[in-house]
Amino acid sequence: MKFERVGVLGTGQMGAGICQVAAAAGHTVLMADISKEIADKSRAAIGKRLEKAVEKGKMEKAALDALMGRLVAVSSVAELKDVDIAIEAATENVDLKLKLFKSLDDACKPEAILASNTSSISITLMAAATKRPDKVVGMHFMNPVPVMKLVEMIKGLQTKDEVFAAVKALAEAWGKTTTVSSDYPGFMVNRLLIPFLNEACYALMEGVGTAKDIDTSIKLGLNHPMGPFELADLIGLDTVLAIARVLHNGLGDSKYRPSPLLVKHVEAGWLGRKTGRGFYTY
Ligand code: CAA
Repeated sequence: MKFERVGVLGTGQMGAGICQVAAAAGHTVLMADISKEIADKSRAAIGKRLEKAVEKGKMEKAALDALMGRLVAVSSVAELKDVDIAIEAATENVDLKLKLFKSLDDACKPEAILASNTSSISITLMAAATKRPDKVVGMHFMNPVPVMKLVEMIKGLQTKDEVFAAVKALAEAWGKTTTVSSDYPGFMVNRLLIPFLNEACYALMEGVGTAKDIDTSIKLGLNHPMGPFELADLIGLDTVLAIARVLHNGLGDSKYRPSPLLVKHVEAGWLGRKTGRGFYTY
């Protein structure tokens, strides 16, 4: 299987990171979102970030120009018709993802592979929404994508072995280390991370410590680069809550129930860094 043209559907913080990594590896990357304006904005934000790398002397200006030349913002999913692999990186919402998988299935050539960057939702379910379930695979990148080394690979019940192996090799060619997870809610990373973040919310709610003290305890006591509230704010509290609900519903165990404090933050629109306020103010 040869991957030349890559499509990315959803150009938020994860999608844009995936676009950057794929373009850095030499692919032509078609960036699609709900409008061309949004895709254009994401493309420009990648350029801005990379200009900083040039200023720091970490990247040549010529490499930046070449990379930007490979990033193409498009106006709709229909323009992904010639890509060899399309990676969906939309909001963590099952109905939306099923709709997007149907639209990718209609738009992309029959031999194209469809991947999802979902962090918790069933690949098997998304595959079943397409006419090519054997060519659907999970490719879970970590945030921030250009920095984090891991891609968790998920094989749906229907995924063909050759497809899985080819996409795993692609992630490795992009400089990532892969691990293999079965298709269960939250896979490996979020099966462990989300209960940790959620428990931090319960601890804060019960007054065990302040957000800052809990974060400092975890950073200095466990050598984590970020405390749970800093990390939750980076991921986005809406995403943390959505994954917590997938674990709670999918595994059916009350130990995964989302903290009411987390729910309230999302209700308030305090979603973390992206809205300027989460557990901290930015
Ligand atoms: N995009 C691209 N690059 C970024 C970036 C971003 N959003 N944020 C930081 N970087 C780069 C910086 O440019 C810098 O690069 P250079 O060293 O080449 O200059 C490098 O990362 C380090 O950045 P900083 O010096 O600004 O900050 P730092 O040393 O404090 O590191 C961090 C920042 C990499 C985010 C670090 O704090 C960290 O590793 N945090 C934990 C992140 C984590 O756990 N991610 C997983 C989230 S869970 C997930 O993604 C799964 C899910 O489904 C929810």
